[in-house]
Amino acid sequence: MKISNSEFTELGSQLVLPLFEGSHKAPNNSLAGLSRSQRSHVREALASGDFDGKKGKRLTLWTPGCNIILVGMGDKESLGHKRARNTGARLIAAMSKKKGVDVTVRFTSGWSTKRMIDFAEGMMLRDYEFLEHQEPPEGHIIEAWKVDFQASSRHQDSISAGLSKAHSVAGGVHIARDLGNEPANVLYPMEYARRAEEWASGKDNVNLEVYDWEKLQELGMGGHINVGKGSDRKPCMVLFTLNPDADEGAQRPCIVGKGITFDTGGISIKPSRGMWDMKYDMCGAATVFGLMEALHATGYNRRVNGIACLAENMPGSGAYRPGDVFKTYSGKTVEVFSTDAEGRNVLSDGLWKAGEFDPEYIVDLATLTGAVVTALGNQISGMWANDEGIAKRLKRAASRSGEPVWRMPLNAQFRKYMTDSAFADIRNGSIGGRAGSSNTAASFLEFFVPNRGFEEDNDKIPWVHLDIAGTAWGPGSKARSEGANPLFQFGTSGVHVRTLHRLITEY
Ligand code: BES
Ligand code: MN
Ligand code: ZN
Repeated sequence: MKISNSEFTELGSQLVLPLFEGSHKAPNNSLAGLSRSQRSHVREALASGDFDGKKGKRLTLWTPGCNIILVGMGDKESLGHKRARNTGARLIAAMSKKKGVDVTVRFTSGWSTKRMIDFAEGMMLRDYEFLEHQEPPEGHIIEAWKVDFQASSRHQDSISAGLSKAHSVAGGVHIARDLGNEPANVLYPMEYARRAEEWASGKDNVNLEVYDWEKLQELGMGGHINVGKGSDRKPCMVLFTLNPDADEGAQRPCIVGKGITFDTGGISIKPSRGMWDMKYDMCGAATVFGLMEALHATGYNRRVNGIACLAENMPGSGAYRPGDVFKTYSGKTVEVFSTDAEGRNVLSDGLWKAGEFDPEYIVDLATLTGAVVTALGNQISGMWANDEGIAKRLKRAASRSGEPVWRMPLNAQFRKYMTDSAFADIRNGSIGGRAGSSNTAASFLEFFVPNRGFEEDNDKIPWVHLDIAGTAWGPGSKARSEGANPLFQFGTSGVHVRTLHRLITEY
């Protein structure tokens, strides 16, 4: 989508008027540039009561030269970011490019700058398709939307800045979705690394490092090695640093993502029902990549680290087995209870590595457990945290972004479920079995969150774990049908790119 903003002068081939409930008259400026007959058409439609401005209502008036769309926003006083964003998303999903890609959106009386940006953000987020590997559908128009957002002069500076930020961040969300939507035969660990290198090249404030198979051996990253060794496509760790020269000596955020490019379960193989979804098991790593793009594109100038933990979990004669004991990067040993609890294994190396950056806090994102989908569904991510301050900040940033999280428990019982292995320091499965298995998974991760400076006497580094197994893609992910979340149509959501961008830059 190409975006611009202006006052009420130009008029595209489609005009969108988002109106509040009770708008019986066309607001000032809303009809500027229309012919006398077009104006009376709109006035009559509003006076007829056919369109009442209620939320979810939409009325399209085709007139020669301009397709006019009245969009019901509902009650003005109670318009929050969520309704504004979702209405923008549903609008663009319903619009047809056949009527022209030049769109004018007019925000008139009752609109605040913030809500304008939220509405526009919804349009930008939903304007996404993944046509990498198929012919576009019959009659499909590739040309990008060109949307001019119009408001009165006093809003111009702030909407211009807000729109360009939302546009850059949406670009990051779309990159995260692209990575998630790529099939596993195309996107394997070293291909992610290659794309990261390609992305970083030519950006002089980005540092990128790839720990390949040899380097993982050298460093003793047993989590990556063991999960990835059953596949011909070898595992790797990708380290992003944005603005490496900024904030010398300061503590800055580090974001870690699970990047299992395909999760068969390994020797503890999954049943084939639903295995299809497991190409999405790298969405944590996709969010890390998308976040780096969002931060870079918005011109963020402080240092941020990102770590993507990539492996393909396959069965085979070289694969790790249940009962194996291996040493992680931290030096702590893991007894393999199930090779299908692989995400936590790779994250053990990633979390420990994060400690080396002496970060202000660590956030990890992972499609970690099926149980979190059962517990919280597809619209809320599970959140675990060892620190109140960062937990609150992240929760606020998430809810302002329309990507809600729900706090889940860490406690001594769940820790005990994982750490009473007879053969190693920790086991990757719980004696509780399915009981609280998202919580026991989080306790496993907690075990690998380093103490500040790796000193036993220091507190653990503030850490938040987000289990995005339910939110990284929707239930309507297999078809081109409308899912429950209007911000994306099918496939992956790019969840939490916006949350983390907001957390890092604003909260
Ligand atoms: N990638 C899966 C979790 C998952 C399942 C995500 C369904 C999305 C939808 C993860 O690696 C896994 O297999 N977890 C196991 C853990 C168990 C073996 C302890 C699970 O959730 O069953
Ligand atoms: Mn698994
Ligand atoms: Zn997995």
